[in-house]
Amino acid sequence: MHRNRGSRTSQRYGILTRKLITFIICLSFYIISLSCERSSPPSSSSSSSLLDQMSDFSYNPMSKFLANKFNANDDELSYLDKLTKLKQKNRKSTLQYTSPSVVIDDFLFHGDLGHASNLSLLKSLDIRYIINICDCPLDKEIMDEFKVLHINLDDEIGVDIKQHFDQTNQFLFSCKEKNQKVLVHCQMGISRSSTIVLAYLMKYHHNTLLEAYDFLLNKRRQASPNYGFLLQLIQYEKELKQKNEINDDSGKEKSKQSDVENPVKTLDENINKVE
Ligand SMILES: *[C@@H]1O[C@H](CO)[C@@H](O)[C@H](O)[C@H]1NC(C)=O
Repeated sequence: MHRNRGSRTSQRYGILTRKLITFIICLSFYIISLSCERSSPPSSSSSSSLLDQMSDFSYNPMSKFLANKFNANDDELSYLDKLTKLKQKNRKSTLQYTSPSVVIDDFLFHGDLGHASNLSLLKSLDIRYIINICDCPLDKEIMDEFKVLHINLDDEIGVDIKQHFDQTNQFLFSCKEKNQKVLVHCQMGISRSSTIVLAYLMKYHHNTLLEAYDFLLNKRRQASPNYGFLLQLIQYEKELKQKNEINDDSGKEKSKQSDVENPVKTLDENINKVE
């Protein structure tokens, strides 16, 4: 009993230490980018906000890091830049914490560990299926009563989350077919779970990542996959486009996927067109 508690505590310390290190790395990126900015010659965009400049990947050290470590090419980096800027757009929705965000009415909920651990909340929302995509398992009480897909995964940019998209997409789609409500959650409902929700929107609503992310941000403002996950989503979009599963807005003919595999009609009724 005691030993168990000891190892749990040290495990927790391990997680804390890793989170602290990640935080320090992010902070140093931030500081480096600030100093780079100061030493760079004044540009015509000197009136743009600091946030704009922070997210401009052309001179953000993060882009160099992503290029070196993950072979991100220029197209991917400029896509990342666009995605990051979406977060700064004004949105009607306000932040909410007491209950999960509703991404698709009567079907897809998106929240945090607290929501997934709150039996009465889940019952009141009539949720019976859960995707838990964090390093923390749910209590036995929940595991016994709900159908839970647990994918144990850390929120770190080097983690391969894309390998799980097929499984999570199938799980979500089977809930849709059964008319069951499902909660996708991680620790905070910010990075890991958003990635899973976006992969679903891309595959089954045939949206580009940009459209899907804009849509999701309207439903859950704190949605923010880490850069490594965003890169993997960009690569996933490319794959789906090659398979003709994403409707490319650029005027070309509509993709020819069958409604059985990709039931546009039934699902797209729920989704608002992204401007
Ligand atoms: C669980 O959710 C209910 C709302 O249904 C809320 O009132 C309650 O505070 C939550 N409990 C915890 C422990 O967060």
